Amino acid sequence: MLQFDLLATDPASHARRGRLTLNHGVVQTPIFMPVGTYGTVKGVMPQSLRDMGAQIILGNTFHLWMRPGLDVVQSFGGLHAFEQWDKPILTDSGGFQVWSLGAMRKITEEGVYFQSPVNGDKLFMSPEVSMQIQTTLNSDIVMQLDECTPYETQGRLTTEAEARKSMEMSRRWALRSKAEFERLGNPNALFGIVQGGMFEHLRQESLQALVEMDFPGYAIGGVSVGEPKDEMLRIMAHTPHRLPATKPRYLMGVGTPEDLVDGVACGVDMFDCVMPTRNARNGTLFTRYGDLKIRNARHRADHQPLDATCTCHACAGPQGIAWNDGGRGGFSRAYLHHLERCGEMLGPMLTSIHNLHYYLNLMQGIRDALDAGTFSQFHAQFKADRARGV
Ligand code: GUN
Ligand code: ZN
Repeated sequence: MLQFDLLATDPASHARRGRLTLNHGVVQTPIFMPVGTYGTVKGVMPQSLRDMGAQIILGNTFHLWMRPGLDVVQSFGGLHAFEQWDKPILTDSGGFQVWSLGAMRKITEEGVYFQSPVNGDKLFMSPEVSMQIQTTLNSDIVMQLDECTPYETQGRLTTEAEARKSMEMSRRWALRSKAEFERLGNPNALFGIVQGGMFEHLRQESLQALVEMDFPGYAIGGVSVGEPKDEMLRIMAHTPHRLPATKPRYLMGVGTPEDLVDGVACGVDMFDCVMPTRNARNGTLFTRYGDLKIRNARHRADHQPLDATCTCHACAGPQGIAWNDGGRGGFSRAYLHHLERCGEMLGPMLTSIHNLHYYLNLMQGIRDALDAGTFSQFHAQFKADRARGV
């Protein structure tokens, strides 16, 4: 089941404010979805995710199929009970992950043959297999199996003919995914994925075919696959607003805070990206006034929190009062710098909380601005603040 209600639209851009109702709850859009590949958002407890306002998280068909295996998840009645997260979950189909195996896989019309990176077993993933796995996982949003068209092949750009061939196969896999999803009686919602590489007319063809199949929601795939930034922005400006206004739109695997705000202006409702958690583990932290590298020696004795305007547990402690509002309950840059240098586990745990909080709070700010009719002012202020520097 899926219901999408449009609550407000921005007259000056393609931005929309919406409400997505799924089997495990309601999601206010635009939304950022933290990535929980192996059934865990790395280093962050479900309670912390709830505290910071996460409404929906991701899981990965491919990884959970490899480990722990479907029999284990099935014995819990699905992914929600297994990972102790009772709000909505979206699972990616495995297309992108199998594709990322490179030399270890062979893609055919029937599906993808590959060797398990875990134990070397010969395995086969098809649209039907992906739907069967995602039905067992019981995720609220199921993604079709697709082929992610690469930006480059063997050191040269993917040609139009190659991108067309790939897009047309994804289109046939969309039909097969839908047929199997319905045959299984899956009670959740299946999204189609637009492909077409860097070719706008192929993207247009892809989206038209998917719209005719009448999915309850649509994703834009095949971006953030090694293309230059301006190419990603060109596709982001092209595709989302051409999808049906009454259905949710999901831009897969994007991106920086700037990409999210720009993406919303292009008409995107949903985002996911490993960037906040991965960067947290590498010591790159997002703040209102730009990015901060916690390893830098200048933070060695700095008593300030990462972001003086942030109310996350790392910056503001259990009371959640920002430093700028008089709160003194959080951890200092000096302490986080120290944890990072010592390789202490608490370091990435706190920085992951901060970065995810930053992303989720950014989306809350976007939703509030759309509700208030002030999105263009918000957009301009956001850009000015981020360019100021920490
Ligand atoms: N994640 C990021 N990009 C993609 C894509 O093109 N397809 C799928 N299935 N997942 C993705
Ligand atoms: Zn913070």
